[in-house]
Amino acid sequence: MLNFARGRSQPRSTRSMPLSGKILMAATLTALCIIMLKQSPNFNTRSRFSEHEEGVIHVLVTGGAGYIGSHAALRLLKESYRVTIVDNLSRGNMGAVKVLQKLFPEPGQLQFVYADLGDLKAVNKIFSENAFDAVMHFAAVAYVGESTLDPLKYYHNITSNTLVILESMAAHDVRTLIYSSTCATYGEPEKMPITEETPQVPINPYGKAKKMAEDIILDYSKNSDMAVMILRYFNVIGSDPEGRLGEAPRPELREHGRISGACFDAARGVIPGLKVKGTDYKTHDGTCIRDYIDVTDLVDAHVKALKKAKPGEVGIYNVGTGRGRSVKEFVEACKKATGVEIKVDYLARRPGDYAEVFSDPTKIRHELNWTAQFTDLQESLQIAWQWQKAHRDGYAAAS
Ligand SMILES: NC(=O)c1ccc[n+]([C@@H]2O[C@H](COP(=O)([O-])OP(=O)(O)OC[C@H]3O[C@@H](n4cnc5c(N)ncnc54)[C@H](O)[C@@H]3O)[C@@H](O)[C@H]2O)c1
Repeated sequence: MLNFARGRSQPRSTRSMPLSGKILMAATLTALCIIMLKQSPNFNTRSRFSEHEEGVIHVLVTGGAGYIGSHAALRLLKESYRVTIVDNLSRGNMGAVKVLQKLFPEPGQLQFVYADLGDLKAVNKIFSENAFDAVMHFAAVAYVGESTLDPLKYYHNITSNTLVILESMAAHDVRTLIYSSTCATYGEPEKMPITEETPQVPINPYGKAKKMAEDIILDYSKNSDMAVMILRYFNVIGSDPEGRLGEAPRPELREHGRISGACFDAARGVIPGLKVKGTDYKTHDGTCIRDYIDVTDLVDAHVKALKKAKPGEVGIYNVGTGRGRSVKEFVEACKKATGVEIKVDYLARRPGDYAEVFSDPTKIRHELNWTAQFTDLQESLQIAWQWQKAHRDGYAAAS
């Protein structure tokens, strides 16, 4: 039988504790509270993130919970930059931010701010509470197919939000911008490879929205001393070679998704096979040709751009390997990388796609001393596959 009376009749241990013990206990508890408070992000951010610090460059990484932004944040943190990630998690993953927070827990290294860049008030508040030295603006919706179905979303999210960022930068005297643009701004040029001089004639709302954002940035930069770098990426693949981060788009975006995601889904059996859209393009094997750039190389280009950015100057660079690969070649590389005999269905073209796109990376090589290093398609896919295999539910386990 349980003896309830015993507990009540026993004196509580603290009652018998001498005064010195009580004081010691109170002091220990207070110290514990201070330590816990210090470790809470809010306590640290207020002082460290809100003031410029000699020798520390504070970068606002918009879209840092996303695929490319998280890889860029990792690289910046590794190089001792101070990083603030702003993301509305509409497409990114809190799990990626948590990975970064675990790797860089020291006060003043990394903070995450949940906000929508379409919210002018919220963005202005972020800028007034933080002392940024530079902005890497990755945040965007970024699917060509989706942009043809929902163009207004794209103009709002890409063009209008870039305006919000620029206005906030101007109002708070933040003078360096590295902008994520895309080869989709070129449309379907007649001449390959694409140089930075190739006319920009985008053929889908995604490319048009990015081109408009570029134009706004360029017009603004004419009368300001802002240092601007516009990087036009080609098709981004791969993931962190050390396996800490990967690409994990939302399941509902799979239908608009990119080729690498679809290959991995097919290899894992999440989808029955791969649908290659378009086999009658004027290319050597009839499938589209793209220039696949590894994310590790891409973030390296960002860091180089940041280091070379100069007040009052604008740099525009293609970021690609300079080599085009067909979708068929890509699929073969994916089969080898995953070791899975992926089933492939060849279907009709998808609206908004263009036949052949690859870069001329001469300018970025000369001016930023950057060249793609991870140019073995199979190897890049193998690295990404390792992460995919270990994270069947994306970042779900980490969030
Ligand atoms: N992935 C590619 O192949 C590729 C190619 C060319 C250019 N880009 C550009 O690179 C950038 C990053 O692309 P990604 O592939 O990492 O995409 P992603 O979807 O993985 O990441 C984008 C991030 O931005 C966030 N975001 C979107 N709208 C937001 C808003 N209104 N407020 C706050 N956060 C918001 C999302 O939640 C997500 O975390 C984009 O600007 C994209 O246009 C990507």
